[in-house]
Amino acid sequence: MTEAWTSEKIRQTFLDYFEARDHTVVPSASLVPQDDPTLLFTNAGMNQFKDVFLGTGTRPYTRATDTQKVMRVAGKHNDLEDVGRDGTHHTLFEMLGNWSFGDYYKKEAIAWAWDLLTRVYGLASDRLWATFFKDDEGDLGIDEEAVHHWRATTIDPRHILPFGRKDNFWEMGDTGPCGPSSEIFYDRGPAACDRQTIADHVCRVNGDCERFTEVWNLVFIQYNRHASGDLEPLPAQHIDTGLGFERLVALLQDQTSNYRTDLFWPIIERVQVLVGQTDAQREASLVPYRVIADHIRAVTFLIGDGVLPANDGRGYVLRMILRRAVRFGRTLGFTQPFMSELADIVVQKMGQVFPELPARIDFIKATILGEEKRFLRTLDQGLGRLEEIIDEVKTEGATEIPGDQAFFLHDTLGLPFEVTRDIVLEHGLTIDEAGYQAEREAQRARGRAAGAFELEADVHAQLYPQLQAWIQSQTPKWELAYDPYGALEVGTRVVALLCDDQIATIAQEGDTLELVLADTCFYVESGGQVSDTGRITGPDWEMTVTEMRRPIEGLIIHVGHVIRGTPRVGDAVTAQVDEVRRRDIMRNHTATHLLHRALREVLGSHVQQAGSVVAPDRLRFDFNHNAPMTAAQRARIEQIVTEVVLADELVTSRQESYREALSQGVIALFEEKYGETVRVLRVGEPAHPLSEELCGGTHVARTSEIGAFLILDEEGIGAGVRRIEAATGRGALDAVQTLRERQEQTAALLSTPLEELPQRAARLLEELKTAQREIDQLTRKLARADFQSLLNDVIEIDEVPVLTAQVDVPDADTLREMADWFRDKMQGGVIVLGTVVDGKPLLIAATTNQMVERHNLHAGNLIRQLAEIVGGGGGGRPDMAQAGGRNAAKLPTALGAVPDLVREMLSTKH
Ligand code: ALA
Repeated sequence: MTEAWTSEKIRQTFLDYFEARDHTVVPSASLVPQDDPTLLFTNAGMNQFKDVFLGTGTRPYTRATDTQKVMRVAGKHNDLEDVGRDGTHHTLFEMLGNWSFGDYYKKEAIAWAWDLLTRVYGLASDRLWATFFKDDEGDLGIDEEAVHHWRATTIDPRHILPFGRKDNFWEMGDTGPCGPSSEIFYDRGPAACDRQTIADHVCRVNGDCERFTEVWNLVFIQYNRHASGDLEPLPAQHIDTGLGFERLVALLQDQTSNYRTDLFWPIIERVQVLVGQTDAQREASLVPYRVIADHIRAVTFLIGDGVLPANDGRGYVLRMILRRAVRFGRTLGFTQPFMSELADIVVQKMGQVFPELPARIDFIKATILGEEKRFLRTLDQGLGRLEEIIDEVKTEGATEIPGDQAFFLHDTLGLPFEVTRDIVLEHGLTIDEAGYQAEREAQRARGRAAGAFELEADVHAQLYPQLQAWIQSQTPKWELAYDPYGALEVGTRVVALLCDDQIATIAQEGDTLELVLADTCFYVESGGQVSDTGRITGPDWEMTVTEMRRPIEGLIIHVGHVIRGTPRVGDAVTAQVDEVRRRDIMRNHTATHLLHRALREVLGSHVQQAGSVVAPDRLRFDFNHNAPMTAAQRARIEQIVTEVVLADELVTSRQESYREALSQGVIALFEEKYGETVRVLRVGEPAHPLSEELCGGTHVARTSEIGAFLILDEEGIGAGVRRIEAATGRGALDAVQTLRERQEQTAALLSTPLEELPQRAARLLEELKTAQREIDQLTRKLARADFQSLLNDVIEIDEVPVLTAQVDVPDADTLREMADWFRDKMQGGVIVLGTVVDGKPLLIAATTNQMVERHNLHAGNLIRQLAEIVGGGGGGRPDMAQAGGRNAAKLPTALGAVPDLVREMLSTKH
């Protein structure tokens, strides 16, 4: 094993080896699975080929190879807890793979794996072990064929071992393609065992110590696992392999830990420089270093694939991983953000192979920094509270942190459960995970308005594959075509019908129908652009198309109502897109690209699309930026877009390989699916393109068709994310006309010419203020007059003057003012006034300090008793207190009670 095995060379050697054996080298799929609701993240190289294995999709090749970025942090394959604690598990890792789709089988898969590992990579053959499947739970038998092909290699025959379903039957998830496997292990020798001190421990393949490392998994895909648990044999047999890249690099670089390879070590070194630790300090804190090095890779790749921090789903995993790394950073001594700097190293190291990373570096770093800052705002509080909880639990002599406390930390203080668990384990305590999950579920249930779509998704999970299989079983065989880019009308045939979730061959007038055509020009919602609507006309029938669906790859459904006649499978039809609507959509879509470009020009190149909707009447564009736009920026953006519109620039598209496109600086948007070839949309002449983005949408031919462009609204919709709504063409005209209409109405109401509207409005506001001041003064005058007449009603109780009255005043302030007048007038006395404001009773009691001291006449005590009568509450200072209530009808009763209460209070004086 030599120094010369850099990770780059190891990866390339693998791809070259299989390319030389007629495999097509394909790009890694996104970490966010496309069209597969059964997966949170891409968790194996074969995910992107699931449809080929199931027989519902095809590729232009039968052999493929790649390096796939995968995440194993959820569901069937979850390694999170091991990450950082050992040197071989990761949240994100690369899986090298080679595939045969009904082409070669076990013989070649085994022979090539052996040849590559031993001859090309030079691993010692006496260190290698192989396993094969021997069913221990059912009747799938023994994989004799695998044994036979292993024996044909130079492997030591004693190194070929059988294992059962747990170890040697690979499944993608609870459902999906699966089959027996054969795994290759490398024996690192007895010194690598990390459990030597444990009694009775025996190092073995598929054991629990680090001596035997699993390197490569060869899966012989033969079945599809259904939700019922049944295994259905597939129409063809396939090869699916996965070689753990980081582990192979460790072996070839002669390291026991993946972290000591050139993939992770540069990150660890940078962390060490940033915290300023010595080598010895670093070696004493390996876990935090490893966790940070692992997690920064995952975080960088996730954001690079468009995942943003959130409280649920993929966004939660990203947030949790990032926060977990930050918390481990805290144990090393970091108090400021540091993760975004590490992202640079990841991108430098991986950018060649994963071009989406350098293309989005600014966005990735800005997102990391934003989330780090957010977390640092509550981290100390969260850690402090957790320390308290831990102390309380220990004081009580308990050992488990209650689930509701963990939930509180998560929900209120932003401390993810996984971070709390890390810390709790460090204290030798446990955590009530079930209790935490129950709290979280309860919160989710509260937040879920309608749960109906989950059920619906379940029905459709079965129905559409069935429909697709039905279509494939027909003769003659249909070639289904989808071309929304050309003419908006096409002559074609009806291939299949669905009525009430049932496959049908005929439908009736009035039916709601789902219909598949041999050829369609209707666009299906994707990349933010909404679906087309229109109509389909048969020989003697007609249906509207109000919705389009693509429930699974390759199956396009037109949904609508039969308005006339009886549609039948096989009918010749004309399918017509609503052209006016579609042209509006195209204007908005091209304008979206121009807006994106203008935003980057005006706000900065960190601007990345975070979401978009392209509809006929408007376009919506979400992007990351930290501040509201100024009026000048907004005007500038409108101006830039308008200039391109007026320049009548050419809009063209081309097909290109994904890698080539990115390397030419084309901007990739997150919603798009990246196959091997992608569509690049260009605005401007080839020599000087104004904008080039990956896009599967439909666009105008020249920018002048956009007509006009107007920003309607701009607002913040989340941490660091802003939303613009804009309109083009008829939508812009509509918006301007509505605006003008409103202005004209306002001007007419104010009897003023349009151009003087602002001055007129300002003047009116001024007049209104003056009028309000006059009203206030008059109200006071009136109250004063009322008050004078009230003085006649003063009675004396034990020589103390007492006034109670119900008055008519607009608010509590005036009431208080009247009480003050009374106190000025009668030194020593009690006044209680009541009024009704907005249907609610309001009471005020006032007395003077000397009354409080001498006679124990406490206004607060008095008002509390009165408040009870009017069904409310109150309080205040000893000399002035106020109460409100619900029952205005009881106000006279309350006021009537005052003399007796005062008398009583005076009699108990000390
Ligand atoms: N799909 C197999 C795995 O992920 C190769 O292990």
